[in-house]
Amino acid sequence: MSDNPDKNLDYEAEGGSVVDVHDAVRREKVLPPTGKEPISFGPLILTALVLILGAGYLGAYSNGFRDDIYVTKYYRPDPRPAGAGGDAAAEKLAWIDQWMKDGKKVYNNCVPCHGPAGAGQPGLFPPLKDSEWVNGGTTRLGAIMLKGISGPFTVNGVGYNNIMAPWDTLGDEKVAQVLTYIRREFGTLKEGEDGIVTTEMVKAAREQFKDRTTPWDEAGLRAIPEDSMLPGAKVDPQTGQPAQ
Ligand code: HEC
Repeated sequence: MSDNPDKNLDYEAEGGSVVDVHDAVRREKVLPPTGKEPISFGPLILTALVLILGAGYLGAYSNGFRDDIYVTKYYRPDPRPAGAGGDAAAEKLAWIDQWMKDGKKVYNNCVPCHGPAGAGQPGLFPPLKDSEWVNGGTTRLGAIMLKGISGPFTVNGVGYNNIMAPWDTLGDEKVAQVLTYIRREFGTLKEGEDGIVTTEMVKAAREQFKDRTTPWDEAGLRAIPEDSMLPGAKVDPQTGQPAQ
């Protein structure tokens, strides 16, 4: 018997009875789970990997969650509601906000060609976004709006050969609003410049160019000094009244 390895059991060696051994086995119950058993290695490694790779990915591609990337360019916080009993002025938009809103409406006329974000259309319509003309002085812009352009025409070194009809029928106020809009929205303003074009300034442009009967060509427009500004009082952006 003892030469059979399968039967090499303690109870035989010690001569214990089969019944005793079975009793012992029956007493030996499987412990109920306590919930504190160590987690097995596989899921642990997997979780760690997901966390490390995830964090790495965020770090590499989130650009630090910068506002200028993640908050859309067109987001404007609503004006704060006036508190109870607040003064009437607080309920009204600042003059410049209303002026820009109106300018954006007028800009709908320009969207078919220059695009909602002023990007233009390659080969057909030039961009307004950071265009040398929009970034330059207001005299050239007034001239363009009131008399139109007949190509060929260069914008930031890129040639176009198309036609832009004059927009003089819009009226002075709307021309002023849309010019303010494109300068502040698409242009890069010079230090200390607020980009505001007033009705008075457009009136001055109308007077200055009243004898012109044909659209501009590029040479004619470039003959106007790049930084020439239309005459007219600067206004307070809050009130729209002449600033002192
Ligand atoms: C029918 C298409 C069309 C519309 C609509 C249009 N434009 Fe233009 N615009 C042009 C073209 C084309 C040129 C370039 C001149 C050329 O090729 O002869 C131009 C040039 C300009 C320029 C100078 C070049 C530049 O890119 O900065 C300004 C500023 C401008 N447009 C402003 C406006 C504004 C503001 C409006 C709306 C009131 C408007 N345009 C509407 C076609 C258009």
